[in-house]
Amino acid sequence: MPDMSRTAAAVWSDPDFATAWLDADPQGEHDLLALPRLIAARVVAEVTPRPQLVVDVAGGSGKFLGVMLDAFPGARGVWLDASETMLDRARIDLARFGPRVTFTVGDMTELRASGVPGGADVVVTSRASHHLDRAELHGFYREATGLLAGGGWMVNLDHIGPADVWDKRYRSVRRSFGAYRPSAPSHHHNYPLPSAEDHLDGYRAAGVEDLDIAWKAFYTCLFMGRAPQG
Ligand SMILES: C[S@@+](CC[C@H](N)C(=O)[O-])C[C@H]1O[C@@H](n2cnc3c(N)ncnc32)[C@H](O)[C@@H]1O
Repeated sequence: MPDMSRTAAAVWSDPDFATAWLDADPQGEHDLLALPRLIAARVVAEVTPRPQLVVDVAGGSGKFLGVMLDAFPGARGVWLDASETMLDRARIDLARFGPRVTFTVGDMTELRASGVPGGADVVVTSRASHHLDRAELHGFYREATGLLAGGGWMVNLDHIGPADVWDKRYRSVRRSFGAYRPSAPSHHHNYPLPSAEDHLDGYRAAGVEDLDIAWKAFYTCLFMGRAPQG
């Protein structure tokens, strides 16, 4: 397991930290990421109206997987995360989907070894890959896109590292939108975070050329790419 991935997994495996983070994560109308999750589902639906299998990597409480399974009632989901605390929360928050969801505790850089099945129509991940450095990120994209069926979707909603001057502007303006979470526990990040170019290069290196940044606000991007047909 790569070093930065191991460090991140260890932090999130601390139940006190994970619980405090979950409790501070904005919900409902305060959740600025509700829109890009929905955009992702609708862009997928435009091309792939009936996906059968959706994998959520580092799924946390299951917010992204929940949006996908609501949008696609015929799909089943695989949730993977390194944290047992997140597992407990995801089992509660995704309970309404019953046997449609399979839960797997494992590392995002060892998807196959963790038992994630291939043939996925959609792989989503959010707010997790920024813990990886460029080489690890590219390894992640390589393995995750390798799990896709032909024409499947690789979707990543994550924070990126903009140039310093833009980072300062974005952080300041974002606060004015009520996105500042004083009670959120801080956790270690390796700066600079991967840039938007690091992500786009990672998609391309994994063989995904049909891609775009489908949404961007401040330093958070929704990357969407479609694997070539088999
Ligand atoms: C900021 S939370 C985001 C959770 C969820 N994806 C969301 O957006 O609501 C980061 C998640 O990544 C998970 N995580 C961090 N490093 C990981 C790793 N190496 N393998 C698997 N999961 C990891 C954490 O346990 C945590 O659930």
